[in-house]
Amino acid sequence: MKIFYFTATGNSLYVAKRIGGELCSIPQMVKEGTNEFVDEAIGFVFPCYGFAPPRMVLNFIKKSKFKANYFFAIMTYGNKAASGLGYMEKIGNQAGIQFNYTNEVLMVDNYLPIFKIEEQLKKEDTKKTEEKLEQIVKDIKSRQKQFVRKGFVSNVLSKGGSKLINKLNQDAGDKQFIVRDNCNGCKVCEKVCPISNIKVDRKPEYLHKCEGCFACIHHCPQTAIHLKIERSNTRFMNRNVKLKEIIDANNQSNS
Ligand SMILES: Cc1cc2nc3c(=O)[nH]c(=O)nc-3n(C[C@H](O)[C@H](O)[C@H](O)COP(=O)(O)O)c2cc1C
Repeated sequence: MKIFYFTATGNSLYVAKRIGGELCSIPQMVKEGTNEFVDEAIGFVFPCYGFAPPRMVLNFIKKSKFKANYFFAIMTYGNKAASGLGYMEKIGNQAGIQFNYTNEVLMVDNYLPIFKIEEQLKKEDTKKTEEKLEQIVKDIKSRQKQFVRKGFVSNVLSKGGSKLINKLNQDAGDKQFIVRDNCNGCKVCEKVCPISNIKVDRKPEYLHKCEGCFACIHHCPQTAIHLKIERSNTRFMNRNVKLKEIIDANNQSNS
C-alpha cells in the first residue's frame, strides 16, 4: 500500500503514519518528477484548505497516473470540512481514480488568520481524533467501502472556498508575511516550504509562488515570521511528528 501525503504542520503526516504502508510525500514526488504509480492499494492524506484539498494535491493527482484495486482519501481538518472529500472524489474521477473509501479527521486547526493555537490546543481532546483514527485504520485494513458525502450547501462552500483560497494566494500570498529582526537566517523556513518559494541568504526572501500552507511561519524556531493579520503568536506542530520529518517531506533543495 502506498500513501501519498501532503503536510504543513504534521497532522496529515501523523494520520498517514498511523495508517501505515509506504509513505510518499507529494512535494518529493513532484521534485523527483515521478508520476506513475501502481500498488494493490493507494491512498491520499492531506489537510483541508478552504473546504477543499490543497492545490498542490489536486495538481499532483491531475498530472499523475495511478493503478490500484483500492483507493482511499483521508482529509484532516480543524473546524469545518464541508464537501472537501466530494471535491476530491470529483477531481479523482476526472483523473481516472475511482475512490472506494473517503473519511475526514478533526484535528488542531493551524489557520492563523482565524484561530488562536493556544485555544485550539485546549480543545484538542474534545475533537476525538484518536477514536476516529482507530476506526479509519480498521476500515482501511479491512478494505471497507464508504464515503463522506454532504449536501448542496457544503458543495457550494467547497467550490467557493477553494476558489477564494487560490485567489488569496494569487493576490496576497507571501505578501501577507512579515519577517521580524530576530530572524537569524537558520533556513528552516526554506527547508519546510513545499514549493521552493523561499531563499535565505541572510533573511528569507519570498519568491511569490506561495501555496499558503504557513509551514514557514509555524516552524520558524525564532517565531520571526508572522502574518500581517494573525490571531495567535503561538505556533503549532503535531506532537507525534518531528521537524526533521516535515523537512524530509517538504524540502525542495538538496541541503
Ligand atoms: C490555508 C489553510 C486553509 C485552511 N482551511 C481550512 C478549512 O477550510 N476548514 C478546516 O476545517 N480547516 C482548515 N484549515 C486547517 C487545516 O486543514 C488543519 O489544521 C489540518 O489538519 C492541517 O494539516 P497539516 O498539519 O497536515 O498541515 C486550513 C489551514 C490552512 C493553512
